[in-house]
Amino acid sequence: MVNVLVLGNGAREHVIAETLKRSARPVSLSVFGSAKNPGLMALADHYEVGSVTDFDALAPFIDRVQPDFVIPGPEAPIAAGVADWLEARGIPCVGPKQTVARLESSKSFTRNLLEKYTIPGNPKYRVFTSSDGLADYMNNDLEGQFVVKADGLKGGKGVKVVGDHLADVDEGVAYATECIEDAGHVVIEEKFIGQEFSLMSFADGSNIADMIPAQDHKRAYEGDKGPNTGGMGTYSDANHLLPFLKDGDIEAAHQITEQVLTALQAETGTPFVGVMYGGFIVTKHGVRLIEYNARFGDPEVMNCLALLETDFVDVCEAMINGTLDELTLEFSPKASVCKYVVPEGYPTNSVKNERVEVGALPDNVKAYYASVDGREDGLYLCGSRAIAMLGMGDTLEEAEQAAQAACEAVSGPVFYRKDIGTAALLNERVQMMNELRG
Ligand code: GLY
Repeated sequence: MVNVLVLGNGAREHVIAETLKRSARPVSLSVFGSAKNPGLMALADHYEVGSVTDFDALAPFIDRVQPDFVIPGPEAPIAAGVADWLEARGIPCVGPKQTVARLESSKSFTRNLLEKYTIPGNPKYRVFTSSDGLADYMNNDLEGQFVVKADGLKGGKGVKVVGDHLADVDEGVAYATECIEDAGHVVIEEKFIGQEFSLMSFADGSNIADMIPAQDHKRAYEGDKGPNTGGMGTYSDANHLLPFLKDGDIEAAHQITEQVLTALQAETGTPFVGVMYGGFIVTKHGVRLIEYNARFGDPEVMNCLALLETDFVDVCEAMINGTLDELTLEFSPKASVCKYVVPEGYPTNSVKNERVEVGALPDNVKAYYASVDGREDGLYLCGSRAIAMLGMGDTLEEAEQAAQAACEAVSGPVFYRKDIGTAALLNERVQMMNELRG
């Protein structure tokens, strides 16, 4: 029996738990999260409700369930040092220690690391500790095409892009000044034009093993309009590429992550164990790095883990033992489309405490529960992304139709993006890249 504790209670943790339970070995699953996720409740042998950053509350649960290892899902406990805290108790963690988790929690740390170790992928950038010279840098060095990145975990709301969230240099300077007042510094960098993609890699400190690439959709509404969200949906293709990528793009992203892993060890003396989630963008000049996260991406994790054929317990143990190079990762040759069903008003003014009902779902769909509360009389919305519907099929068309049908089976005050994974949206992206690449 392998005894695993998962920290967190969203759809990401639901698919992590499901993938663990698919292991050839029996798994005893314990979950510690801030709400009762009905999907996780159905899988867990032990379940405790508590804040994932409250290690004092976690301690008695750990003592009781005695896990062989822990998988922290969300960024907050990772950035707060849960891996270091667990190590002091002799418990391995499939997640990085605090010093290397800065890969996600500090934008300046990551940009400076790439620069110091001459790793390709960085934009032109500068870290400012005062507002002196901000306007000049944005206007002249970056020719008005800039991004302002707050340091620290901001739940996806710290990055603001000119022409998008910021109208002009004046607004850029005002936001950057706010960031300096808050954290003491801010990163200003060149805005990239191209198509974004996520490539997540398992890391054991010395080796990485890539998952399949996926593309997320940050904006709330169809046509990539509206406010930024945690991610409204993702897709991956049966050939484990994305339609707008060309030969060498994935290899370029892989090379960046591999070099960053080595640089992290050289810089901090601490190996990175866990998931390195690279947010990349393919531009007319090639692949560039937008940012790293030090955890599974959500919704990307649905596309990757649901299709993982290698035993996930073996993958976790290989990360902990530094033996990833001895394992070959296999993914099912299926396309997948994940669409999040979210409350009306999400993300700014979400409906809460309203009931939703899930009707019959197609066979080729998996439903992963996120911000919902399973009560005696049904399923209630808690305000954030509610249910991730993952459709799978031989083609993207089949997978998209399955995910769409599953979203339509949910009744209540909810919405979702109908366009994610459709041929129309994919063609637009392919055409954009063809034009950019000439
Ligand atoms: N896919 C967005 C995130 O996980 O941060």
